[in-house]
Amino acid sequence: MAASLGADVTVTDLEELQDLLKLNIETNKHLLTGSIQAKVLKWGEDVTAFLPPPDYILMADCIYYEESLEPLLKTLKDLSGPDTCIICCYEQRTMGKNPEIERKYFELLQMDFELEEIPLEQHDEEYRSEDILILNIRRKKQET
Ligand SMILES: C[S@@+](CC[C@H](N)C(=O)[O-])C[C@H]1O[C@@H](n2cnc3c(N)ncnc32)[C@H](O)[C@@H]1O
Repeated sequence: MAASLGADVTVTDLEELQDLLKLNIETNKHLLTGSIQAKVLKWGEDVTAFLPPPDYILMADCIYYEESLEPLLKTLKDLSGPDTCIICCYEQRTMGKNPEIERKYFELLQMDFELEEIPLEQHDEEYRSEDILILNIRRKKQET
């Protein structure tokens, strides 16, 4: 958790998940050296309250249903600045529509962002797994 490394962190989810976020914060507060707050952020909605763009956006397992792809991409575009580093971690799911959802997500993402896959050997030794991918994502530089 970034707040245990001294960062000022905002954790977000839908309204109905706020109590769980707050419980997680309370349970882990002895580890914190930075600050942390929970807030509602529904993908695709206004992000003004979260600006200026953060240094990092950490997204864990957020690519899994089709209706969310465009709102999620809008949020990433609205929230990130030229220096924001987005770390996206996700499990490659092979069942049903999941491979298609993943393909579409990365096709749309690459219109505005550059992607770099973090090699497996650089993942945490204990938690690494062949079907878990971690990407470093940055906004494409604007042509001048
Ligand atoms: C698969 S869970 C991953 C949760 C957590 N990041 C983790 O790795 O354990 C996906 C999360 O995305 C949230 N989510 C789904 N649709 C959303 C939306 N439209 N706006 C904001 N959050 C959403 C869900 O509430 C859920 O907490």
